[in-house]
Order: sequence, then structure tokens, then C-alpha cells
Amino acid sequence: MRGAATQAMSDVVEERQQRRCPPAAAPLRAAARRPAGIVARSSHTALGIARRSRLASGPGGLQQNANLFLREPLESAAASMNGFWYRKKRLYCEQVSVAKAAGTVGTPFYLYSQAALERNFQVFDSSFREIPHLTCYAIKANSNIAILRVFRSLGAGFDIVSGGELFRALKAGADPQKIVFSGVGKAQEEIDLALKHRILLFNVESAAEMKMLEERARSVRKVAQVSLRVNPDVDPRTHPYIATGLRQHKFGVPMEDAAELYRIASRSRHLRIGGIGCHIGSQITRLEPFVDAVKKLKGLVAALSASGIHIRHLDLGGGLGISYNDEDPPPPEAYAKAICEIVKDMECTVLLEPGRVIVGSAAILVTRVLLTKQNGSKNFIVVDAGMNDLLRPSLYGSYHAIQPERVNGRGLWKADVVGPVCESGDFLARDREIQIPKKGDLLAVMNAGAYGMVLASNYNSRPRAAEVIVKERRMKVIRRREGFIDLVRGEAVNPL
Ligand SMILES: Cc1ncc(COP(=O)(O)O)c(C=O)c1O
Repeated sequence: MRGAATQAMSDVVEERQQRRCPPAAAPLRAAARRPAGIVARSSHTALGIARRSRLASGPGGLQQNANLFLREPLESAAASMNGFWYRKKRLYCEQVSVAKAAGTVGTPFYLYSQAALERNFQVFDSSFREIPHLTCYAIKANSNIAILRVFRSLGAGFDIVSGGELFRALKAGADPQKIVFSGVGKAQEEIDLALKHRILLFNVESAAEMKMLEERARSVRKVAQVSLRVNPDVDPRTHPYIATGLRQHKFGVPMEDAAELYRIASRSRHLRIGGIGCHIGSQITRLEPFVDAVKKLKGLVAALSASGIHIRHLDLGGGLGISYNDEDPPPPEAYAKAICEIVKDMECTVLLEPGRVIVGSAAILVTRVLLTKQNGSKNFIVVDAGMNDLLRPSLYGSYHAIQPERVNGRGLWKADVVGPVCESGDFLARDREIQIPKKGDLLAVMNAGAYGMVLASNYNSRPRAAEVIVKERRMKVIRRREGFIDLVRGEAVNPL
């Protein structure tokens, strides 16, 4: 039952597994010892990019893939690179059994591998080691403060888009001098809060915003560091809802307007020119759009420099994609190499704002089968997680692999995996070849770490799911499941 076990649960639960297994951090340590080229290959896998977890259709599709999982030797780095792997036909997160975690916290819940989070951040960040840079994790992808704390302890900065995200970053102990504030519409109170904490940069997206920032900085007698987010008019070739770098989008200022805006900034005693940036979209699976955008920015920085405007920070945004299904995005090393090649002779510190590529593969959403049903020729698996828990499939038609917690050899079924929400658009998968489930089985929705919990809602008055992190044999609830009382908090019972 949703949340039944939550209240009684203590925060930290030691997994008392007697079996001896390689600690999940082992591949990380091994990778650190490997020469660069080999690190590139394995870290690619770590980010969930090379490994295909899709259950292929066709005769024996699941069986083949399930066997593939089962054949992985326990010590195989590939099997545990994203923290999730099978032992004796049961799914594990690092050294904690998913079934045991579900028994403790109830379902649905997000389950994170700390080793995968750390590894993904380190792989990304170290790929840029040859140039001065700061990796500012994009909080919007996953904002749990315990997760922010993991990245902060690895030296991360943060990309925020609201006062709430600034609050979270500060709660996680972030250094304000490593915070950049993006977003097309910042409210006065948000600007004031960021000024108060002296953040590193305000990514300004319009003349109107620059004016407002100047006014606020003057009124509180502070100096705001300005970085213009320009719109390089580059097609990122991604889902239209997450493409941001074309002229038709609301984001950024046209490149040709930049010089004039910097001139305005340079005349103010309360604005300091800090940088220039762009963010062309999310879930980008090719290098070319990034390369085109960076080259355009480099040209603009040179032109500005020739007119006496010197840029110290080059913010390249986020956007690197991961493999949810059969996408084949470049690994972070290739992405970094392509960027470093262009920017290495520029006298700038490069800022990066990755989100999805850091957290996407490091979590699953664990859900329980409530029932199965058939409407005519259509099969449905009704589970206890819905679009309010994971919106991506409904919102973007996104693909998430769904893996059984227990491989049972019952054969295959083609079915829609749907939630209990009263919307036909409430689905996690459509027409999916999936192991024939029965009531009470657990399913894992893979690659759910990015834009998962942050997009969760209380639609249909459904309390939001718990979040749990695992480190080797230990697990911890990092966000307790909501109860009914949370649903009505802040509401008044009596109308006028
Ligand atoms: C300004 C900005 N930076 C960074 C990101 C993170 O993008 P991603 O999660 O694709 O890396 C986003 C997301 O859209 C964004 O809008």
C-alpha cells in the first residue's frame, strides 16, 4: 500500500546481506586507474549510453535480453556501471535488493545509486580537465538536496532557474560563487535573493531583464555580474519541447543584439560584464549542434573583444543526451574534446550546465503491478506509478525501458504499462514486449533520474513518491513519501 511502511521506517537502513559482492565503487576506482582511452569507453557505459536495456521485440526478444543481464558476471563493471544489475534473477541497486527496498518504503519510489551519481559527475567534469572550467550541475534535472550535496562534495557549482533552486543549492551547502542563475523570467525577489548571496553570474536573456537587474542591484548597492544568454539559432535536433536555441524560441537574445546590451551594461556602476552563454536544448544526441553553437559564440567573443568588451566566462549550457532506447549520443569525453578543441585558445573559464547526463541513468522508478487487464485485443498492466510520478512518457512520448525486478521466465506479453491516473495519456510504456507480470510484481522504470521526481505532481490527489539513495549496502530515504495530510497543507477548509 502506498506509504504504509514509511512512517515507521528509520532513515537509514543497513542492508545485512551476508553474500560477498564487489562494492559498486570498484568499477570507479578501476576506471580511475585506467588510461584515458579506456576510461572513455567504460564511462560511456556508466552514463547508460552504450548499454542497451531495451527489451527487444520479436521471438525470444525478452528472453535474450533477460539472459544477457543474467549472463553478466557479478564482477562485470558493465553490469553495475549505472548501479543497477541482476543477481540470481533479482534486480539490485548497488548491493541493496530492490525488493527489499520496496518492502521497506512501499511503492512507488525513486531509487538512486550514489556510486552512479558520483561517477557520472566525475566522468563529465574530468573530461574538461585540460581547460579552466566549472561544472554547474543543472538543478532542474533533479533537485533533491541530498543529491545536490553529493555533487557539491565533488566540487560542483550549480545552475539555478528560480529562487527555490537557489534556496536548495544553499541548503546543500553550495558556494554562491559557483552559482549561475539562468531563466527567461526572473522575479524581483529572486534577483534580490541572488544579489544578497553574491552569486557568480546572472544569465540575462533580454534588455528588459538587464534593466531590472541594474535597478535591483542599484537599490541594494550591489554589483551584479552579467552574462548574456545569446540565441545562436542552431537546431539541436531534439524534441520540440526541449529545443531552446532557435530564433523562434523564447530563450536568449539575438546574437546581433549582444554588443549593444554589453555596452549598456558597461555604462552601469552596478553591472559588471561577466560572461556570455547559450543553451540550445536538452537530450541532444549529436555533436554538430554543440560545435556549431560554440563556434558562433567564439566568433562573437572575438568581435566583442575587438570592440573593447572582454568576456571572462563562456557558459555552454547543458543538453548532452543519454540513451533511453536506441539513441547513441556522444560520450562526455567526445563532447568535451570537441568543445575543448574550439575554446582552448580563448582566455575564458568555461561553464557547463549538465543535468540529464549526470543524473538520468543513476535512478529507477520502482512500481508495483496492481492488476492486469485486457480490453479486446489490448493488454494493460496497471501499476501504482502514474503520470503524476513520471511525466516524461505522457509529456514527450519518451521511452523508458521497463525491467522486471524478478526475472521469472513466464514468457512475453505485449502490453501498455499504465498508471491509475484518470487520463488516457497516463502511461509509462505503450505496446511494450514485457515479461508476463502478475499482481504484486515489481517493475523498474529505468533511466528515471532526470526530469522524473522534479516533474512529479499531486494530480488526482496522489501523494508524491519517496526517494531513496543507496550507497553500497546501505540505503537512506532522502525524501519521505507524502501522506494525505501533505495534500491539503496550506488549504483552507472554510470558504467565504
Ligand atoms: C539553461 C539550462 N541549462 C542547463 C540545462 C540542463 O540541460 P540537460 O539536463 O539537458 O543537461 C537546461 C535544461 O533545459 C537549461 O535550460
